[in-house]
Amino acid sequence: MKTTSFVKRTIAWTVVAPVFAISSIAMAATWDKCGGCHNGKTAPDKAALQQKHKSADSFIKAGKATTNPMMKAFQNDADLKGAAGELGLK
Ligand code: HEC
Repeated sequence: MKTTSFVKRTIAWTVVAPVFAISSIAMAATWDKCGGCHNGKTAPDKAALQQKHKSADSFIKAGKATTNPMMKAFQNDADLKGAAGELGLK
């Protein structure tokens, strides 16, 4: 019986570990797309955006409202909501 539980545990960890690894990569992915410009030079950096926007709603609205052509590819719910979450805005 001991062998069985060892095998089960081994299988469980082989399945669970990559899922954790993938989800932590996925969590960092959205802001990675933004950081190139949102570096405090081209556009406000993470800290500046967190200070200005106290809620995800305000962040998303501002993201959609900007007429700067550089933001065009990112003015969608998936990117803006994802990034708001990564910035800790709710
Ligand atoms: C190619 C450069 C570039 C990329 C990439 C980019 N942005 Fe921007 N973003 C800008 C510029 C330029 C502005 C306008 C800054 C200003 O008006 O001061 C802006 C403005 C914003 C604003 C409005 C800020 C405010 O308070 O008015 C938000 C929110 C925002 N971006 C979010 C994002 C998110 C989220 C991403 C990634 C998914 C992203 N941006 C990627 C260039 C970029």
